[in-house]
Formats: sequence, structure tokens, C-alpha cells
Amino acid sequence: MDAARIPLAHLPTPLEPAPRLAAALEMDPDALWIKRDDCTGLAGGGNKARKLEYLCADAVAQGCDVLVTGGGRQSNHVRMTAAAANKLGLDCTIVLSSTAPSSPVGNVVLDLVLAPRIEWAGRLDYAALEDAINAAAERLRAEGKRPYAMPVGGASVVGEQGYVLAAEELREQLPDIDLVVTAIGSGGTHAGLVAGFGDHARVLGVDVGARPDPIEAVFHGATAAAAFAGLAQPGGVPQVERDQAGPAYAVPTAEGRRAVALAARTEALLLDPVYTGKAMAGLIAARRGGRIERHTRTVFLHTGGLPALFAYPDWVATTGA
Ligand SMILES: Cc1ncc(COP(=O)(O)O)c(C=O)c1O
Repeated sequence: MDAARIPLAHLPTPLEPAPRLAAALEMDPDALWIKRDDCTGLAGGGNKARKLEYLCADAVAQGCDVLVTGGGRQSNHVRMTAAAANKLGLDCTIVLSSTAPSSPVGNVVLDLVLAPRIEWAGRLDYAALEDAINAAAERLRAEGKRPYAMPVGGASVVGEQGYVLAAEELREQLPDIDLVVTAIGSGGTHAGLVAGFGDHARVLGVDVGARPDPIEAVFHGATAAAAFAGLAQPGGVPQVERDQAGPAYAVPTAEGRRAVALAARTEALLLDPVYTGKAMAGLIAARRGGRIERHTRTVFLHTGGLPALFAYPDWVATTGA
């Protein structure tokens, strides 16, 4: 793979055994592992650092001077894009599909510290947010800037190369890996991993309700990411767990709450209500339903997201999660 990359993340991230969580899920002690992509660094860490290494390299190669992207109010992608822009001396404009909070919490606090230009666009659905990002880039172009527009979640074929590389890293760390479990927001992380492994059967994505078409997004994303990387087309079909999203994106669920509690109490892993808690709930459901077996060599991809936990203090306080 020879796409350009600017180092922004602490790589390789650790791969840690999770024997106490494995025991709680009646799995063999060496069957369950945690890939610590919450430890990528870059203003708090998370999966987006890997994508940004490729996206920023592309932006710089194109001579762009402002990164433009968007997300929900508690977007980790937005926070990390602002961080990458600061490190590289680029401007950054972000579109948040929300109104400005009266009192900033969680990622919004970090956004204000990192200080990108923020456009509070009000509630937008996924497609409207993509349109708003492109419209912001057009406005900047009209002002004489050279914008680099990134889709929600950095889910372009360029960004997905970050997870093609992560699949290679995982194979080196755990050669007999059977399955990686990850949250699906935009689907770019899942798609890149599938492209890197060359097989849809090796990745189980847990939809968190961010977009209406996660299965199609993963399928098309993986196809394009593999072609871009010069790899064989992945076999099989996307493995997507759709029962954990709950009523809506960013609305916490009881299953997610139990998963957050179990991960914290067995392995001191801090998950969040929006992404990783729901992803862990998906892993637990797949194990209980027999889709993950006792001995299945399973890696849970911890994609970060801890700042969002601080935006749900009542949820934590009233549920004991
Ligand atoms: C903490 C966290 N986990 C998972 C995801 C989902 O990743 P993707 O958008 O690549 O599906 C995101 C996306 O923003 C995230 O912030």
C-alpha cells in the first residue's frame, strides 16, 4: 500500500488480553483481546487518528489550507480533525448538526479549547450534514481559501486506508485472529478493516444508528478501499449487528449501560454511551447468541470516545454505569 501518510497517531496501539471479561462471557481466557485504538493520542485519542493520517496527507498534497468536516454535537471525529489541523498549521471549519449548548460538555469543551471555526447548523440528518460540509467548503473556496472537505467520520476511500493499515498491524500482533468487533458510525473503520483482511467474515460491525444504510456503506466502502490499496476484493458479505442502536444515534441504551459497567468492572476499560458501549453490547449479544464461540479468537476494537461519557453524567449517576 503506498498512499501518502503523515504520522499523527501513536502506532502500533497496544493489543491487550481481556481474561476477566472473557470469563464473564464464558470464553476461553486467551480468546478475547482489546485493541487499544483509544490510545492513538492526538488530543484524546480514538480511531479517527488513523484516518486523519491519510486524509491530512492528501489535503497537504493537494495544497489545501483548511480542513472542513462535520458531525454530531459530541463528534470525536470533529475534535480530532481540529487537533490534526492545529498540529499541521492548517485552518479548520467544522459543521455540527446541533444547536450550540448553553453549557458545553464532553467533546464540545475540547472543541472550544482546540478552537476550530464552528458552524452550529441545527439538527440535520446524515445526508443533509454531508451537504452542509460541502456547502461550507464552497463558501470557503469563494472566500479564496483552499478547503479540503472530509465526509462525516472521515469515511472516504483515503481515510479508510488507516484501517487497511490497522488490519496489517493486528495480523502481526495476533496472527490467528478470527474476528474483530467494532462500532459502525459512518462505517469507514469497518470498511477499511474488511479491505485489509480481505474477508467480510473477519469483521463484525455494531451499528450505532448514525446513518440509515450501514450495510451498504460497509460493502461499498470495503470494495473501494481494497481497490484503492491495490488489494483483492473482499469475500463474503458485511456482518452487521443492527439490534444495539436503540431509539436513535447518541441515545443511550440499557444494553449499552450494562456493557459499559461490565467492561469497567472486569478490565477497567472506559467505554462511552454513543459508540463503544453499544459496540460492546453487540459483542455480548453475539456471544450470548452463539455467533461468537467460546474459543473464537475475538478482538474488540476500542475506538475511543471517552469525552462523550462526560456529556451523560445523569446516565452514569442514575444507572450506576
Ligand atoms: C469513538 C468512536 N467509535 C467509533 C466510531 C465509528 O467509526 P466509523 O465512523 O469509522 O464507523 C466513531 C466515529 O465517529 C467514534 O468517534
